[in-house]
Amino acid sequence: MSFKTIEWTDEGVRMIDQRKLPAVEEYPVFKNYEEVATAIRAMVIRGAPAIGVAAAMGIALGVRDSKAKNLAELQGDFKLITDTLASTRPTAVNLFWAIDRMKRLFREIATDGAEQRTIAERLIKEALAIQTEDIESNKRIGKFGQSLLPDSGTILTHCNAGALATAGYGTALGVIRAAVENGKRLRVLADETRPFLQGARLTAWELWKDSIDVRVISDNMAGSFMRQGLIDAVIVGADRIAANGDVANKIGTYPVAVLAKQHEIPFYVAAPFSTLDLKMPDGSHIPIEERDPAEVTHIGGVRIVPDGVSVFNPAFDVTPHQFITAIITDRGVAQPPYAQSLMTLRNEGI
Ligand code: MRU
Repeated sequence: MSFKTIEWTDEGVRMIDQRKLPAVEEYPVFKNYEEVATAIRAMVIRGAPAIGVAAAMGIALGVRDSKAKNLAELQGDFKLITDTLASTRPTAVNLFWAIDRMKRLFREIATDGAEQRTIAERLIKEALAIQTEDIESNKRIGKFGQSLLPDSGTILTHCNAGALATAGYGTALGVIRAAVENGKRLRVLADETRPFLQGARLTAWELWKDSIDVRVISDNMAGSFMRQGLIDAVIVGADRIAANGDVANKIGTYPVAVLAKQHEIPFYVAAPFSTLDLKMPDGSHIPIEERDPAEVTHIGGVRIVPDGVSVFNPAFDVTPHQFITAIITDRGVAQPPYAQSLMTLRNEGI
């Protein structure tokens, strides 16, 4: 990739500031775990897998810089660090998956009586492993998913499930990248994705940088394009997938899925196994983040909703599994019924 979404440095965690793209390509460094938490909350970094990597690096940073004088104090600091990072965004399960992985390692080495410096080194290594594994898993998703896409045609995507939303390469956009690398002639339509405009700003930016044919449409155009036969498949990412295959993803995904079913267009979801929450029986239990009303009332700092009028701003919706043609994971492609196929992939997948 010609840019790095997130990077560990000795000074702190460097991230591309996704709030400023595409106008400015800036890479600020977040110097402590509180700053990393603020960056996740403010969506400097966003996208389920990328949030997980950022949280893991934030934990490593917090432990490395802790002023604890003994193990008991370090354990207290560790709880504060992990609680702070866990409180940033509630829907993307990769965040909690990454935090749990760091917690398990911390418990294991702290019980062995290791010193703070050794613990911190191991945690940094683990965070870097999470980052590397995410890119590898994206590539596997791409390999499994690309065969589902036509040799030529137009693919609609919603939000940004690309390199910017992961450690690199992407899930939904990873499938598109892999298909293009395989010689398929694809054009991408990117929903602009109100209100944060991940499609217009981020998907368009990273595909354009990669010379992949991309055009932006506003969210309300998808139905009309489908009706005219101008869309051959839809592919999106996910923030959390329940055991029955219901998928939480960026607000606006559900209406696209309904439209796709109506027009008999395949609707694919691409996500690593770290996005699966098999303890959750169905999507009705998935917590949906409600974000700052200013994201809806304002565009580019200018108020577009009359002062005094309030708005709703749920950041995600849930697409029931009946609308999903297949779920492309890093362990293989799950077909309906998902309650069985996801379990099979969990137990027998690569
Ligand atoms: O609010 P965001 O931008 O973090 O939402 C991101 C999405 O909904 C993505 O589709 C999802 O996290 C998958 S990213 C590979």
